[in-house]
Amino acid sequence: MDVIVNKFQESDATFSYEIRFDSELVEKIRSLQNVWKREIEHNNPSAVGAPYFMSPMVGELISDEIFPRCKEQFQKISNKMIEQVDTKVVSVLYRVTVWDTYQLISRNAKIVTKIFEENSDLKNEVNLRWICTGAGVAERSLITLLKERGEYKDVRGVTTDISAAAILVAACNLEMMNIEDEKPLINVRIVFGSVPTSLRNRPNTLVLQIDDAVISLEREIEDNIKYDAFLADNALPYFTREEGRAMLSSAVKLVKSKGIIQALGLNKNMFVKIPLTNKLKAIFNTNIKQEYNKLMDEKQKKLDKEYQHGYRHIYIKNKKGIIIQVISEGAIEMFSWIREYLTKFNLDYAMKLMKMVTIGTGLSSWGKYVQTNTVESYRDLLELLLNTNYSVIDCPGEDSDWKDMVLSTFTIVLE
Ligand SMILES: C[S@@+](CC[C@H](N)C(=O)[O-])C[C@H]1O[C@@H](n2cnc3c(N)ncnc32)[C@H](O)[C@@H]1O
Repeated sequence: MDVIVNKFQESDATFSYEIRFDSELVEKIRSLQNVWKREIEHNNPSAVGAPYFMSPMVGELISDEIFPRCKEQFQKISNKMIEQVDTKVVSVLYRVTVWDTYQLISRNAKIVTKIFEENSDLKNEVNLRWICTGAGVAERSLITLLKERGEYKDVRGVTTDISAAAILVAACNLEMMNIEDEKPLINVRIVFGSVPTSLRNRPNTLVLQIDDAVISLEREIEDNIKYDAFLADNALPYFTREEGRAMLSSAVKLVKSKGIIQALGLNKNMFVKIPLTNKLKAIFNTNIKQEYNKLMDEKQKKLDKEYQHGYRHIYIKNKKGIIIQVISEGAIEMFSWIREYLTKFNLDYAMKLMKMVTIGTGLSSWGKYVQTNTVESYRDLLELLLNTNYSVIDCPGEDSDWKDMVLSTFTIVLE
């Protein structure tokens, strides 16, 4: 099993790189994914309509074998040193394995797909712009949905991350998307710095750009580049408010009329730390479904309006305000799924799922790095759009709403 790195000469005397898997690796990934597909269909129905899924075994294969080999080969071919991958990036790769942590990304990708469906100006080509690629989860989700529709013959775009290691993980994740479909959905090319014109004009190509997001967007305004959507998944919270505002200001200039500006991000200091005792209680509670549904219905009755996010959940907090229990459809399915494995003495799978829950809830610990809440970015965007017509498709809601959300989202369409 091996990873192959190819190098291409581009216009502007630059190079681009692509990651490929050999046939043995392709077969291994396909077979692990097929096994997991059946497990999901049986145990995790909420996740069945998601843009994609990933077996935890494939996640381990990427982090333990594919990424290290990819890094080694890439360094050799590109002559550039690549840093060790941040554990945060590996965690975001895994987020698709836990429905509660993936469902808002999945929902956002579906919102974009639906808006595009209603945009009669979009014919063959869709041009997309993401920032802060991480493991490429948002990119893979949306490209999969758009390609599934079969309507857009040419889906292209750019996504930027300052970390070369994150870009390599994303390249592996996106190559995974290509091999799962018999026909590759999109060409994935890695570049350092500016995007060469030859790649920008290449149909069905996603450029993974290693660069600073703030600077790369400003450069694109000078080059008069235009996109159908600007997508910031888990990006804006990690910048200062001024930097975030600068990127949103660039987005307003880069997005065409009828184009989309969408964001999703963690809120400050919303920590989920489910103690092992609570996990075990949930796993061994055979009435979990009835009890959780009853609690959610009671809460729904008390609420005079539903969360904008349509995400039915209750957070139970301890005295320090840390979330120690999540009551949701995803949690019911996850804990019942673990119980199913335990009762069948499938300890290996049970432990893998427990690990996924720990990684998934651990994502919230980044709340301590949040500099700007998504609702603040939303308000900045509205200010930037004061003299522009737009419609709000999804907003973070009132303070009382978003204060009880680990993640907040917004989607705006320019007119
Ligand atoms: C939370 S992770 C990304 C998440 C990803 N979009 C997702 O939703 O899974 C944040 C990413 O932002 C990247 N990042 C941080 N500062 C950046 C900058 N100035 N320009 C571009 N990327 C940056 C980090 O390297 C990291 O991969």
